[in-house]
Amino acid sequence: MTDLTELSQGDLFAPPDPVVTCRTLEELHGLIRDCTKCEEVAEYRSQAVPGVGPADARVVFIGEAPGRWEDQKGEPFVGDAGAYLTELLEKIGLARSEVFITNVIKCRPPENRNPKTPEMENCLPYLERQLALIKPDLVVLLGRVALERFFPREKITEAAAVPRKKVVGDREITFLPMLHPAFGIRRQDLKPEIEKQFWTIREVLDQL
Ligand code: URA
Repeated sequence: MTDLTELSQGDLFAPPDPVVTCRTLEELHGLIRDCTKCEEVAEYRSQAVPGVGPADARVVFIGEAPGRWEDQKGEPFVGDAGAYLTELLEKIGLARSEVFITNVIKCRPPENRNPKTPEMENCLPYLERQLALIKPDLVVLLGRVALERFFPREKITEAAAVPRKKVVGDREITFLPMLHPAFGIRRQDLKPEIEKQFWTIREVLDQL
């Protein structure tokens, strides 16, 4: 039990965190769209890109960050990597419309640079709340940046296609890391390997 004598007046009267207390994805996505925690990124973006998909999706896909097309459209994975992701989903019998797709950070970094650690930390409560509201059976981590957010000591080349569990908030979630689909666009020779990894999504889902 909390020892109230250790709490300052500020702790006792702090307003509840709107991210933690919001009850719907719609409400949460409104907070993300209005977010200006990362000054440089908030100034550069056209709009924030919270994520897309059903609020009760069985599978959530997490990429790195919105790029140019995502920033313009307000939807994740709508460029070349997105078209390839849709194709991979269809191959394993999942429609894009039945999964939830989002990113580690919700705004396009200037000139598509890598997201900075403080930016990812600022955005993490949004991602955690999305997972708490959606309650997916499986979370697919697309690429190194998404993997490192949840499993900081792991390497994507070794972790890919190996399911693992972790408690996030008050739920244990099954995670499945994968090579990022953008790799398959840049390196056509990697496509068979990426496809093989995607089939493990089907296998894991069938076992859950
Ligand atoms: N588009 C996204 O939304 N995220 C990525 O990681 C890559 C492309």
